[in-house]
This record gives sequence, C-alpha cells and structure tokens, in this order.
Amino acid sequence: MATDALAVPGLSSDDPFTPASDSAMWRRDFLFGTATASYQIEGAVHEDGRLPSIWDTFSATPGKVLAGDTGEVACDHYHRWESDLDMLSALNVDAYRLSLAWPRVMDERGQPNRKGIDFYKRLLGRLKEKGLQTFVTLYHWDLPQYLEDRGGWLNRDIAHRFADYTDLMSRELTGQVDAWMTLNEPWCSAYLGYGNGHHAPGLANGRFATQAMHHLLLGHGEAVQVLRANDPRAKVGIVANVGRGTTDTDRDADRHAAHLFEVQHNAWILDPLLKGRYPDELFELWPGTEPLALPGDMEKIAAPLDFLGINYYFRTNVRSDGAHGFVEAPLTGVERTQMGWEVHPDGLRDLLVGFHRHYPTLPPIYITENGMASDDEVVDGRVDDPQRIAFLKRHLSAVDQAIKAGVDIRGYFIWSLMDNFEWAFGYERRFGVVHVDYRTQERTFKRSAHLIAKFLAERDART
Ligand code: FCB
Repeated sequence: MATDALAVPGLSSDDPFTPASDSAMWRRDFLFGTATASYQIEGAVHEDGRLPSIWDTFSATPGKVLAGDTGEVACDHYHRWESDLDMLSALNVDAYRLSLAWPRVMDERGQPNRKGIDFYKRLLGRLKEKGLQTFVTLYHWDLPQYLEDRGGWLNRDIAHRFADYTDLMSRELTGQVDAWMTLNEPWCSAYLGYGNGHHAPGLANGRFATQAMHHLLLGHGEAVQVLRANDPRAKVGIVANVGRGTTDTDRDADRHAAHLFEVQHNAWILDPLLKGRYPDELFELWPGTEPLALPGDMEKIAAPLDFLGINYYFRTNVRSDGAHGFVEAPLTGVERTQMGWEVHPDGLRDLLVGFHRHYPTLPPIYITENGMASDDEVVDGRVDDPQRIAFLKRHLSAVDQAIKAGVDIRGYFIWSLMDNFEWAFGYERRFGVVHVDYRTQERTFKRSAHLIAKFLAERDART
C-alpha cells in the first residue's frame, strides 16, 4: 500500500516525508503541531474529584465500544503528562492542541474543582515554559453525565451551562492559552451522539440531532462572547470536521447526491457559523427536523471568529438513493486505512478551496486534525509506519496546494500525538505518531515521529 502511495507523481520514494522545497510548510510562521483530547488520553477518571462523563457511561455499556474498552486508564496521561510533554519537545513541534475535561473542573452546582483546574494550569504552564503555542478545546465530547441527565444537548439550558464553564476556565487560564476552540466537531456530537447513537450519549433520532446541533452552536456563540471578554488577547475559534462527497457517475442525480452529502456534513455547521442560517437543503434531506430557535440565536451563533479549525480524514463516494437523499457507494481498489477510510488528500484541498470561494467571511484556517490509523507494532524497539508517513506527506502537499490557490491556512496539527482511546473503536485503532503499549504504558516514537522531528529541525535551522 505504501509503495503505491509513494508512486504518486511528485513524491520521491527516498524522501518519504519532507515537504517539497517550495512548500509553505517550510515557513517559520506556519504552525506545526500535534493534537489530543482529554478523554482519549488522560485516564484517572475517578481522581481528584473528577465526575463521570457521558463517555464513562457509554463505554461501560456493553456493546457500545469495541472490545468493551473504556477511557478509565487510557494513556495514563494524567500522571505521565510531564514526560508526555517532553515528547513534544523531542518532536520539535511549535504547538500542541489539547482539550479540557469539563467533569474534572466543575461540579454539579457549577463550583470550581481546584485540583482539576490546577492540573491544566500546570500542564499549560509547562507548555509555555517550552515555548509552545497552546490550542485549547473546551469541549471534546466528555460532557458531565449530570448534564446529560438533565437532557444534555437537547436541553436549551446547556448553552448557558457551557458559557458558565467557559467563563470559569477562561478566567483561570487567561494568559496560558494562545487559541481557544469552543467545540470539537459539533457534527459528531449532534449526529453520532443524538442522531444515530454511535457515540455517547447514544440516542438515535433525526429530530434530536438538529436540535442538539442548535444548542451546541448556541453554546458556542455564548462562549465566544465570554472568551472575548475574559481573554481578549487569545484567538477564538471552533473546530469542524468536514467531509468530501463525490460520486463516480456523471448522472445529475448522483452529482446532486454528492452535493447533499456535503450539505449534511459541512454546510449544516459552516452555514450557521458563517452565514447566520441553516441550509434549506438540510431540511429537504431531513424533512420536519428544523430545530427550535429563538430570535437572536442565529446572530449569536454567527459571531465573528478569529479562525476556523478544520478536521479532515477521508472522502465518501455516494449516489442518489432514488428519492431525495444519498447513499454511500464505497469505491473498490482505493487505498484505505485501518479505519476503512479512503486516503484522499485531494479532498482536503478541494474542500479548502471550495470554502474559500463559497464563504466571503471565511476566517483564517488551521487544520486542527488530520492523520490516520494503522495497526502499528513495536518490532525490535522500532515502529515502522510507512502508510502514515506517505499519508502525512500527501496531505501536507494538499494543504500547500490550497495555500497556493489563495486559502489562508496558518497551521497543521497531526491527529494524534500518541495512540489513544479511539471512541467507539477503543484501543484497537492507532492514530499516534508515538506508539503506546497499553500494558506497560511505554511510549515508542514511530518512524513518522522521527521524520517529523527531523524535518522541523531542518526547517528551524534554515530560518
Ligand atoms: C475525530 C475526533 C478525534 C479522533 C479522530 C480520529 O473525529 O475529533 O477525537 O478520534 O476523529
């Protein structure tokens, strides 16, 4: 597979990672980082007053997560954070994206949990000592269970609770955060959490998905106001996962289906944020699911952003379902990852260029996640991950092409720093550039990590 990938024109097989010499990736002001999320790495779910989250509940429910895995221990990052941050230094990255665990820092009455807050202060303090830029996500899916018990993202009140939590953390962490991200991938929280039940809290109702989305975005809008007031020097943004939809026929109905796929994946989130309204076509696709919105909501949701975080993983081939929707029509003979996701770097470029043309108010972009899972193993103390190396190189080239086409892209974060709890797929899917042995918690740099460190050292030596 890797050999095929390396046969792509413009990529030389003896230089599997280093970007082309004219690539924007060499620019010192293009930020290079890695990303993680609290529930996926921290473990220590019962420690220092942390309360249960919806992912503790969901992963403890039989049948929800592959092999019954939970985040109870994960990468034990809560105890190993210092040496984990040292790995960032060894990688020579400029920035680190992490998330805060809401159930660690606030209790049911909205009171601060000092021990949890201090954990993040120490962590961010160390990152700043190391000279790294800090990108902090407020909500990467670990909702306190007590809030789900009050209706979770279906209860409008949650937008205010999210603003309270944002208020607490932005007061506590002012000066330690370079860029705040309110939500990670609201599409996943709304659609996978409330629409099809593949993620926590595991509800499956189309009407719920659009209402949950509205409350997520409203919470985002309220949080933006709070962040502007409490931490005016930090950048404020949100992270959207975007999907490329294409079709392999030239039938109009199938082309329209591919368009609808992107409406459902991208415009559902980006239109309210950047145009202040939901796309009409969403409700043609899902009739009768218009969310209940109050006057003023859309203005709040569309508050100007300093940046947009984009997470991209794969392309989906679709065809018309014969009615008003689309069905997936998986392509054969294409390269796929351990997740079964198609490797398709052009999709990232095409989406970025498309957003740039379509949204006049598109803010500067950071690629806040991109990467792939492979079944990596330690052999004689080494981990070779040729497919990931080629994947990263090709996606960095796609980002460079988008920059050259005029899109304002400021940085790129690899998902992920280390192997971790991959939600419904547990520990079986390995996304890290650092391998984690979950029996011993030993970390081993994969070959991709060594090549990233080498490239960034070369870049720094040049400038
Ligand atoms: C994204 C999530 C991230 C990770 C990657 C593989 O949807 O934001 O936490 O699981 O997928």
